[in-house]
This record gives sequence, structure tokens and C-alpha cells, in this order.
Amino acid sequence: MQYQYATEQKDYSDLSSGRVFYSLPGHPAFPVRLASEIFQRCLAHRAAVYQVSGPCTLYDPCCGAAYHLSVLGYLHGEHIREIIASDIDEKAVALAGRNLSLLHEDGLNRRIAELSKMLEQYGRRSHREALQSAAVLKDKLLTVRKSQPLETRVFQASATAKRAIANQIEPQSVDMVFTDVPYGRHSQWQTIDGSSNPLRSMLDALLEVVSDSSIVAVSSDKQQKAAHERFRRLEQFQVGKRRVILLKPI
Ligand SMILES: C[S@@+](CC[C@H](N)C(=O)[O-])C[C@H]1O[C@@H](n2cnc3c(N)ncnc32)[C@H](O)[C@@H]1O
Repeated sequence: MQYQYATEQKDYSDLSSGRVFYSLPGHPAFPVRLASEIFQRCLAHRAAVYQVSGPCTLYDPCCGAAYHLSVLGYLHGEHIREIIASDIDEKAVALAGRNLSLLHEDGLNRRIAELSKMLEQYGRRSHREALQSAAVLKDKLLTVRKSQPLETRVFQASATAKRAIANQIEPQSVDMVFTDVPYGRHSQWQTIDGSSNPLRSMLDALLEVVSDSSIVAVSSDKQQKAAHERFRRLEQFQVGKRRVILLKPI
């Protein structure tokens, strides 16, 4: 895959998982540059297919720690009005809430206080570096985001549970879905409804909430196929073990 938008390999260390952002133990973080590339491709498709360019409501129904969503809030927040995150796992939902709170001044201040206390207690270099990164993020938040605060929302639901999702999200209100679905080693699909094809059931559920001018990006392993008769594939590419598919509803 050739990077078309995130063409430079920048230093994303201020955004790295486990520094200012909280990490979910045992879950490798989604690569920042790839998240940025996928998000920008979605924006480009949205503009080309629907001639729409305003800030979007972004949703991830398998959000994990909401790491990539939070990172996108910092990198591309000017294109985002609201971030909605959900996951089936209670612990993931709690952590997602903490990560998304870092997109707001009070949440970031709480994290700065927490890191300062840890630095005082343990004197570790990692805490000092995290505080430096937090200062960079705060500067960005106060300069870039101040005029345009971003809304965030987290809830617990299975991505395959149509009703549960429709109870939380208005119909036609999601402009962009960017989800990194479970694939094996580090996270497995958990289903309560016995769905034999959770990815398809997830697409079914998304139809309840996506707008007619939405773009859906799904990152999965090569074994899973994000296919559904009510979605048309816009593009597909592979990065290492990940397969990324961009779709539009039809
Ligand atoms: C690969 S992780 C997502 C990591 C996330 N992209 C991040 O940056 O933090 C996949 C997530 O899917 C969740 N999951 C598994 N089955 C699910 C289901 N049926 N509905 C919603 N989430 C599910 C897991 O709990 C896990 O948090």
C-alpha cells in the first residue's frame, strides 16, 4: 500500500499508546500513521462521492481503548464534530472513556495531575516524557480545538446488536465509521446473539445509524470479509496482516 495522504513518517511519539493515552494491556495499538491515512482516504471519498466536506460524526462500534479515535481527534479534529465509541467489553468501554476525555481540557488536566503525582512518587523518565507530551497536547487543545470543541460519547454494546446501537445513536447521524474489528490473537469476536458472521451482522446494525452520505472503513484480518449487499466497496488495501476495506451504503 502506498501512502497517499500521510506521506511522511512523522514523529508521533506524543500520541503513542501508554504515554499520555492509556493502553489496554495485551492489545497492540493501532498504528497512528495508518489511522491518519485511512481517515484522510475516507474524507477524500466523502468529498468525491457525495461532495460533502463539513465536520463529521465518527463512530467505532468495536472501539477497544478508543486509541485510534482519540489520536484522530488530535490529528484531524478540525474534520470531526463528534466521536462516538462503543465496545462489548466493560473494561474497554471504561478505558475508551478515559482516552476520549483527553480530548477535553478537564480530562487532560486530570491526566497531567496523575502523571505529575507518579513522577513525584517514582521519578521515572517515562513519566517526565509523558508530561512533556501532555504539555504538547494541551497546547494543541488550547490553540486549535478551543474554538471548536469536539463532543465525545461512549457506551457498551455489541457491534452486532442492531437495537442496542439504534437506542444510543440517532438514525442517519453517523457520517463516518472507522473500526478495527477483532482478529484473533489479541481480541476475539464476542457475540451474545450467536451470530456466525459478526462482521456482516455489524454492517447490518450500522445501516440503522449511518447517513446516506457516509463512508465505512473496516480494518480486519485477511480471513474476514466485510461484504454486504447494501454496501458498495470503494477500495481495499492490505498493510502487513491487516486488510482495510472502505465502503459506502447503497
Ligand atoms: C482490535 S480491538 C480495537 C482496538 C482499538 N482500535 C484501539 O485503537 O484501541 C477490537 C475490540 O473489539 C471488541 N469486541 C469483540 N467483540 C465485540 C462485539 N461483538 N461488539 C463490539 N466490540 C467487540 C473487543 O472487546 C476489542 O476491544
